[in-house]
Amino acid sequence: MKLFNPGGVQGSAMSYAALLEKIEILRSTLRWATSLQRNDIEKLLRQANALRDEVMQLSHRERFVQAVSAGPALALPAGERRQALLARSFVFEGTFGDNPRLLDALEIAEKAAPTDLPVLVDGESGTGKELMAKVIHANGARADKPYISVNCGAIPDNLLESELFGHKKGAFTGAVNDRKGKFESAHRGTIFLDEIGELPLIGQVKLLRVLQSHEIQRVGSDETIAVDARIVAATNKNLRRLIEQGTFREDLFYRLSVIHVTLPPLRERQDEIPMLIAYFSDEAAEALKRRPVKLSPRLRDFLLAYDYPGNIRELRNMMYRISCLAGDIADVGHLPEDIRPAPAGARGGADAAKVESVRGQGAQVPAHLEAPLSLGEAKRVASDQAERVCLERGLQEVGGTVAELARRWDMNRSHLQLLLKKHGLHSKDFRHQAGAGAGRAVTAPD
Ligand SMILES: Nc1ncnc2c1ncn2[C@@H]1O[C@H](COP(=O)(O)OP(=O)(O)OP(=O)(O)O)[C@@H](O)[C@H]1O
Ligand SMILES: [Mg+2]
Repeated sequence: MKLFNPGGVQGSAMSYAALLEKIEILRSTLRWATSLQRNDIEKLLRQANALRDEVMQLSHRERFVQAVSAGPALALPAGERRQALLARSFVFEGTFGDNPRLLDALEIAEKAAPTDLPVLVDGESGTGKELMAKVIHANGARADKPYISVNCGAIPDNLLESELFGHKKGAFTGAVNDRKGKFESAHRGTIFLDEIGELPLIGQVKLLRVLQSHEIQRVGSDETIAVDARIVAATNKNLRRLIEQGTFREDLFYRLSVIHVTLPPLRERQDEIPMLIAYFSDEAAEALKRRPVKLSPRLRDFLLAYDYPGNIRELRNMMYRISCLAGDIADVGHLPEDIRPAPAGARGGADAAKVESVRGQGAQVPAHLEAPLSLGEAKRVASDQAERVCLERGLQEVGGTVAELARRWDMNRSHLQLLLKKHGLHSKDFRHQAGAGAGRAVTAPD
């Protein structure tokens, strides 16, 4: 009897062509069978169930894609997209920023949250994958049910099955009691499978089985237990590459990635860095019970131009470190030693001379002279500096009255406030200063 692989979508992307081929195999098996034994019938039934499951997933995915592309939000400017999410009572769980790619991800999360479709979140380390999993949980119907996080890379191979599915007393040495696994604990809630790329192949097979049957068996028990857990998985690996290398199952990848969200690295959403600096500076000040730290121009330039291999986590940690170590004003000396820029005097050549000459005039050293920048970064830093200078001048002229400045510039007042926050400027610092030079140190917002 010719049978297709009962694993379901094994070895092929889920597509109508692949499904039709499997249905044809099933049909011809039935057409040419002269008699069927009970075990053959059961095999065929399992295949029919697997096919039904795949069709359901495909149709969910299509409906989801249609819903996303039909959404009017994509046409809106970033600020309005965030406002629109807020207006729809979206729970951000502390996710900050309005970079268009982050908003894309949040809008996908918003659409995916109320469904039970599996979501795969990928992105470099520290880009907010776990935060995104919490956002999906918090915005769905399971928000008041358990959210269980499992780090697939941290479980020793011999404990994997017991961790995920639990065990029966006496199942192995050390199993002194019956124990629930993570899947059972996540029943009716969400299970977050972190570092899914680290799951060994044997664990992948077992996980696949649970995804297909929605049932588990505790180690050492024959009893099957129904589990209803919404799956969100995350990885900082390129799973397609792992599939090519044979260390990740393609069928599991398709099962997990019905909705696929990729979080961009911070260096690709540099427009968010000023706001994130202000946000984490406030957060750190509150946690450390101190006034928000002020940043020297040199430190601020460094923070704006640095490429953050550890992404948002690195920036957040850096702001906590700076806030902890610095007095009123933080400088590059408060950065971790391994990333601290060399003192300008240690640099040779034309740049060092320019740096010294600019400093000699008491002016702010442009970041592109402090550290080598790409053309794009240099442009962004320059435009950011121009924006800041313009805001400072404007505030001086109106003696720090934001409403007046908004009127003069014919600008929305809240947008102007947002720009001031982005640059860490305080209108009160400009009161009684009309005509005088504004202070140079940047104040984190309070
Ligand atoms: N958009 C954001 N706004 C505010 N905080 C964020 C944002 N993204 C991430 N963070 C914070 O950055 C830190 C790292 O985020 P998270 O743990 O979700 O990253 P991750 O992608 O899961 O990292 P890893 O791959 O190393 O596990 C957390 O403290 C999180 O709260
Ligand atoms: Mg994580």
